[in-house]
Amino acid sequence: MIRLATEADLASVAALEVELFGADAWDAAALHAELVGPGRRFVVAAEDEVSGYGVSRSIGDVVDLQRIGVAPHHRRAGVATALLEDLLAHPGDADRMMLEVSAANHPAIGFYRHHGFSRIDVRPRYYRDGSDALVLGRVLGTADQASARMER
Ligand SMILES: CC(C)(COP(=O)(O)OP(=O)(O)OC[C@H]1O[C@@H](n2cnc3c(N)ncnc32)[C@H](O)[C@@H]1OP(=O)(O)O)[C@@H](O)C(=O)NCCC(=O)NCCS
Repeated sequence: MIRLATEADLASVAALEVELFGADAWDAAALHAELVGPGRRFVVAAEDEVSGYGVSRSIGDVVDLQRIGVAPHHRRAGVATALLEDLLAHPGDADRMMLEVSAANHPAIGFYRHHGFSRIDVRPRYYRDGSDALVLGRVLGTADQASARMER
């Protein structure tokens, strides 16, 4: 089930942040800021436990995908897809979604390509480990519509 995150979810999400993002993890204060900040949508996938979470931020005609993460033992089961679909369905006034991902993060790039994102730009040596950042984007609507429109 995908639902809006609450304060009570933040400890679980903070633990996932450390597991998934290590030194770049958001701490409790940063997560709280995402929960209450303007333009944010913070959702979790939760049954007995929180298996994944996603955060977007709408600013004018762009909605940024700030974070999406799924616990390793829940992957390849459509959890991130369900989270992304919720965020895509609640874009505020935006008509496209943008994100940054490390060029070394092959699982995430596979996931974003599957959902119709295309490369907009590259930021060389953007991350701590020296990897480039890829800026990906897609228009809203279905992934097929997004790919078709980006290719025009
Ligand atoms: C990227 C991530 C969110 C995907 O989560 P997930 O729940 O496993 O994704 P889904 O099950 O919804 O995958 C949907 C499709 O995306 C693609 N995909 C997902 N993981 C992939 C991988 N490791 N390699 C290639 N393609 C992948 C596939 O096409 C997949 O469909 P399929 O399983 O039928 O082949 C997850 O691997 C993760 O949490 N990674 C660590 C955190 C991270 O890097 N987040 C993104 C940067 S902020």
